Amino acid sequence: MKIGVLTGGGDAPGLNAAIRGVARRAFQGGDEVLGIHEGWQGLLEGLAEPLTPEGVSNILIMGGTILGTSRTNPYKHEGGAVRCRANFGAWGLDALIAIGGDDTLGVAARLCEEGLPCVGIPKTMDNDISGTDYTIGFDTAVTIVADALDKLTTTTMSHRRVMVVEVMGRDAGWVALIGGMAGGADFILIPEVPADMDQLCDHLLHRWAIGKRYSVIVVSEGVQFQTGVDESQMEKDEFGHIILKERGVGPKVADEIERRTGLETRVVVLGHLVRGGSPSLADRINAGRLGVVAVDYAREGRWGYMPAIQGSQVVPVRLADAVSQTKTVDLELYHLAKVFF
Ligand code: F6P
Repeated sequence: MKIGVLTGGGDAPGLNAAIRGVARRAFQGGDEVLGIHEGWQGLLEGLAEPLTPEGVSNILIMGGTILGTSRTNPYKHEGGAVRCRANFGAWGLDALIAIGGDDTLGVAARLCEEGLPCVGIPKTMDNDISGTDYTIGFDTAVTIVADALDKLTTTTMSHRRVMVVEVMGRDAGWVALIGGMAGGADFILIPEVPADMDQLCDHLLHRWAIGKRYSVIVVSEGVQFQTGVDESQMEKDEFGHIILKERGVGPKVADEIERRTGLETRVVVLGHLVRGGSPSLADRINAGRLGVVAVDYAREGRWGYMPAIQGSQVVPVRLADAVSQTKTVDLELYHLAKVFF
């Protein structure tokens, strides 16, 4: 077979481990792999080069994606799907493996319905794809959040301050919740639960009253909070998303805390730091597993599916089901986390 592989959407540590998994499995069976550059943009514009055994050597520990990525949506371009099919044919491909989050996998599901043989691999540090316990990049992201909180806690304690830490998480608060729990956060705000500033500020003042004169608060960038910004006027990408960092929710929550409580408050926006650098152990291993199994699905002609990790098993999940709804935070776990606030 000749298999095309692309990475779309935001990058995440572990993408190269997945690409390596795809390539190694393919080469093992004598198949060829074409690396398509810049996500769907590469399929649309014909940007690609063959992957070689040397080319995927030593990429396991590298963050980012050697293929490049973009937020291009072929369906937003004139004749986009037709152009994608034309390049697929011109390259002599038999299968396409698309590694990405809900946007990238949604395009793969649609192209597949229209006859293009696609397999997906779930990637997003947001961890919000349905049907899988695991998405590439999440484990590294929460490890970085926890590490940042460890460091921020010592300086926050020394200055008897409040520290607000804004982390990525567009529609789901997994990064804030799991990273926050691991780093001992004193309050966590997630998009699934509207921010209750009365509750948060009462909690902070209570901590001061009992002698705990510091607090580290984790805020998901997508939290429901009146930012005063008219989001309908903000620039959107081809999938209709605004750049959440520009909402500036972290600094606004920090200002509000200071105004209401009088406690000195600082803010840190972790932003893209949590998507950078070498992947964690779990991201290296699981991404590699998914890459290998995606090639197996292509060989079996299991089009329109992605390998998903459920418990310790890798199982096939329909792409259409995976993107049909956002996997939001388990509220039971959120309420459990409050025990530690
Ligand atoms: O799609 C995942 C994500 O990490 C979101 O949490 C975040 O809002 C977005 O990417 C930001 O990505 P970029 O600034 O690279 O477009």
